[in-house]
Amino acid sequence: MQIQRIKGFADILYPESALYAHLENTARTLFSLYMYKEIRIPLVEYTELFVRGIGTSTDVVQKEMYTFEDKKSRSITLRPEATAGIVRAYIEHNLQGLTRVFTMGPMFRYERPQKGRMRQFHQINCECIGAEEPIVDAEIIAMLLHFLQELGITDITLLLNSLGCTQCRPQYKIRLLEYLHSVEHMLCPTCQARMKHNPLRVLDCKEKECVEHTTHAPHITEHLCTPCNEHFTHVTQMLHDMDISYKIEPRLVRGLDYYSRTTFEVISNNIGAQSSIAGGGRYDTLIGEIGGKPTPAIGFACGMERLILLLNELSSSKITYYIASLCPQAQSHALRIAKELRKRGIEVELSCGVISMKHCMKYAGKYAQYCILLGEEELAQEKCSIKDMSTGTQEMISFDMCVEYCVQQSNR
Ligand code: HAM
Repeated sequence: MQIQRIKGFADILYPESALYAHLENTARTLFSLYMYKEIRIPLVEYTELFVRGIGTSTDVVQKEMYTFEDKKSRSITLRPEATAGIVRAYIEHNLQGLTRVFTMGPMFRYERPQKGRMRQFHQINCECIGAEEPIVDAEIIAMLLHFLQELGITDITLLLNSLGCTQCRPQYKIRLLEYLHSVEHMLCPTCQARMKHNPLRVLDCKEKECVEHTTHAPHITEHLCTPCNEHFTHVTQMLHDMDISYKIEPRLVRGLDYYSRTTFEVISNNIGAQSSIAGGGRYDTLIGEIGGKPTPAIGFACGMERLILLLNELSSSKITYYIASLCPQAQSHALRIAKELRKRGIEVELSCGVISMKHCMKYAGKYAQYCILLGEEELAQEKCSIKDMSTGTQEMISFDMCVEYCVQQSNR
């Protein structure tokens, strides 16, 4: 029986693979302008890191992790996100001072696959560790939007919230729970359970009844302590000063437990139900909680699958030169010309073996800008025919002049 790929895991073939490379290249170039350096972390960590980092009451930890025992019966997990691993590396390598890092690669969550939601998906992830000033929040959000703009993704909304801190959030939770108890019987069973472990997550429920019956729930932004309120006001003021539009969304609680203060998400209306293309926020207590010296931090991750749904196909780029050997003796000449052109930075595709003129015209017409024809007639005169596939004009050029001629054509 034929072996097939696992549900929720994709093979990424060309031309889609070129879109992934385009995202990665754009990210590398852009993040370097903001002094973010690349970090590469393992795909697998001890399960405890994610349990302690992401939180036991989250869907990710409760239902979505790919967890196994290794040969020594230690519990290990395929990373469902990158922040916990980066923070582990930050502590383990005793990185000091302000650390700005980015990473990209596959993450794994056992969710129900649908458009824009995979079990193996890819994230581009940035973290700024070691600063609590609001300017850092404003800058990282601006960097995310700059990245999306570079990709030509414009029809988006930035949602913003503050989740307060260990001082003000417990007070808010009490208020929220009071409210939720009054509507408890109308909430879905999952939200009724969430009320016990993580009441804020009720605000994130997509069930129609839950959304309806929590519209009048108290807003966390109205219950922030003075330092959190000042922090949030500064962040929003700085975004305003940079002409960045945003919508304050008090229901934005995020699905991972480590967040405090600023949280944000970028959503798109053009990719269906899985509309969140990026999300992030502050996690000022996480590093202390998993064994490091208490250090404030903020970061975000973009979902590459969702960005790709929004990217227009890269303009279908044709190969510059197709070299066709029309007789067996032409093949060595074809190889030599190809080598010289590639040395000059020009893309070349060789015909695989000897092909007919008819086949050559059909193929080059579709995929190439120019075609170099090497047949018996050309070889007898020590020349090649070069055809411009868009205009149909053809010239015979001597072998000596061929490479120079091609370089000039492709520089036009
Ligand atoms: P997250 O909101 O869980 O945050 O994921 C970030 C983005 O990853 C989402 O907005 C979405 O685009 C994409 N994503 C998540 N799950 C899937 C999936 N199953 N299939 C396809 N795309 C998906 C985090 O992961 C945090 N670590 C972000 C962060 C970094 N916060 C601070 N630093």
